[in-house]
Amino acid sequence: MVTGGSGFVGSNVAHVLARHDAEVLAPGHGELEVTDAGAVARYVRATRPDGIVHTAIWNDPAGLVNERRRAWRAYVGATRAVVDAANAAGAHVVLVSTDWVFDGTQGPAAEDEPPNPVNTYGFLKAASELVVAQRADRGTVARIAAVQGVHRARRATPRAQDAGFGYLAASVVDALAAGKRFTVWDSPGLNRLATPVLATDAAELILRALQREATGTLHCVGGEHVDRVALARRTAQAFGFDPQCVDVGSPDAAVVGGQPIPVDTRLDGTATAARLGVGLPDLATTLRRLRDEFEAAATA
Ligand SMILES: NC(=O)c1ccc[n+]([C@@H]2O[C@H](COP(=O)([O-])OP(=O)(O)OC[C@H]3O[C@@H](n4cnc5c(N)ncnc54)[C@H](OP(=O)(O)O)[C@@H]3O)[C@@H](O)[C@H]2O)c1
Repeated sequence: MVTGGSGFVGSNVAHVLARHDAEVLAPGHGELEVTDAGAVARYVRATRPDGIVHTAIWNDPAGLVNERRRAWRAYVGATRAVVDAANAAGAHVVLVSTDWVFDGTQGPAAEDEPPNPVNTYGFLKAASELVVAQRADRGTVARIAAVQGVHRARRATPRAQDAGFGYLAASVVDALAAGKRFTVWDSPGLNRLATPVLATDAAELILRALQREATGTLHCVGGEHVDRVALARRTAQAFGFDPQCVDVGSPDAAVVGGQPIPVDTRLDGTATAARLGVGLPDLATTLRRLRDEFEAAATA
């Protein structure tokens, strides 16, 4: 079972589970409200999943700050509801979490590095991680980062640069394919260093964690760290464009004017790779796979 199945990460997790012939339940927001503990309990009791991957998230940075109670319910309350339902059904629960639980000076952070979030989103994710660590009978925290890929549930994806790394590669490709130049933001107030992963590769690692019953904290990321500018230029190159068409500039004041953004959120996935018995792909491999996925989606 995948919560947030209509989202970017959730739709990729559902896609990967299905290609491994799993029987997948991926209710969208309209089918299951994860902040409703009773509804989650009833859904899980009726469907008896072997594993639950909790990806659903209220994805609204401003809302998280302005509506604290709603935010708490959407992150911590929802995670508690999912964990309790998983416990009752004897299911293994995986919370998809983030590199933003770190403060931006801890990279490359290993799986056992204590979180030290600097903004509301990171705090809510770190609190949700604790729910899994303390409350799940069989629980895994799968941190992912700088996720790139194809949205499997929506044709039009939100491809716009932000303070993090999400959708950065897609934004570059969209601009260059349209014959435009692309300006990658770089400034001290941004997330400048991270460890990208393809959404489907992260999902493969999560599936492996379920198959091996790997509990605890995992870093489901790629095997190479990169800064924003290098990621933008290497994406251009990997997609057959001139990397010189990528300029470097400053973001709008509004992008960096709010809460602190962790600067260096590199994740070390060495221990995760060893536990799961896999190698983590380098960036060239990740970008090659991303290109293949974009091409396949364009012809589908
Ligand atoms: N994308 C990244 O780069 C990245 C990086 C690190 C970690 N993550 C983690 O990955 C997870 C998924 O992120 P994403 O990028 O896939 O977000 P997303 O595309 O915004 O998907 C979130 C999904 O959750 C659903 N949802 C929201 N509130 C819900 C509720 N109360 N009940 C049920 N469903 C609800 C949304 O449905 P509606 O849209 O219909 O409300 C949407 O389908 C998050 O936990 C995030 O922390 C993502």
